Amino acid sequence: MKGVVLAGGLGSRLYPLTKITNKHLLPVFDKPMIYYPIQCLVNAGITDILIVTGGNSAGDFLQLLRNGSDFGLRRLSYAYQEGEGGIADALKLAEAFADGEPICVVLGDNIIEGNIKKAFDDFEKQQKGAKILLKEVHDPERFGVAKVEGGKVLEIVEKPKSPQSNLAVIGIYLYDAEVFENCKNLKPSARGELEITDVNNEYIRRGTLTCEVLQGWWTDAGTFESLYRASSLVREGGANRMDTVGE
Ligand code: G1P
Repeated sequence: MKGVVLAGGLGSRLYPLTKITNKHLLPVFDKPMIYYPIQCLVNAGITDILIVTGGNSAGDFLQLLRNGSDFGLRRLSYAYQEGEGGIADALKLAEAFADGEPICVVLGDNIIEGNIKKAFDDFEKQQKGAKILLKEVHDPERFGVAKVEGGKVLEIVEKPKSPQSNLAVIGIYLYDAEVFENCKNLKPSARGELEITDVNNEYIRRGTLTCEVLQGWWTDAGTFESLYRASSLVREGGANRMDTVGE
């Protein structure tokens, strides 16, 4: 399995901080934000990673991460997203890198306490389709929200005004190679982006999407409140242990 970290976008919810740099280079406690999703993949055993970035300061990722050897990576690749087409648009750029293999996609502003090894192992047994991770939250309207019955996801709604559950779809997704076909047929949403939720709903229609509830805390870091929360959680509890990286 290969890993993809999506680290593009304008980060406009963090203006003015992101007027001069990329959101994923901002500090989360004592490390740049992008370190956490990379370490999350490394902890699951992935050593071949693609970073998709764009917008401000794209070159700074190369300067910061170089060839990924600080993380013990076998290969670190980079792709550049033109414009602001959304998460599923950024994912399209990973097709040649994936080269027919399954991938684990992590949004660059998602930080978890534990690890995804179990979901990862379960997905390898599943062989086909996709797996998403869910987490109970108190503010589901900020996220993609899953309607689940009997352990099966029936539908995901992106940022619903009246959420049907408190289960947020977190930004860590496991996909087979079909994901790129699904990305090609998408239409932009009301916010003008190709939505990862539409990709996941296509897997639901095909009957090949499974889900697991994540253990341990999870947060995004794309708003002032969540960025602050992320730093506090890392400071208090530690995340994705990486004591020696970048020192
Ligand atoms: C994105 C996804 C959403 C998901 C969230 C997790 O939202 O669209 O489904 O729940 O990431 O962080 P965005 O950060 O683009 O608003």
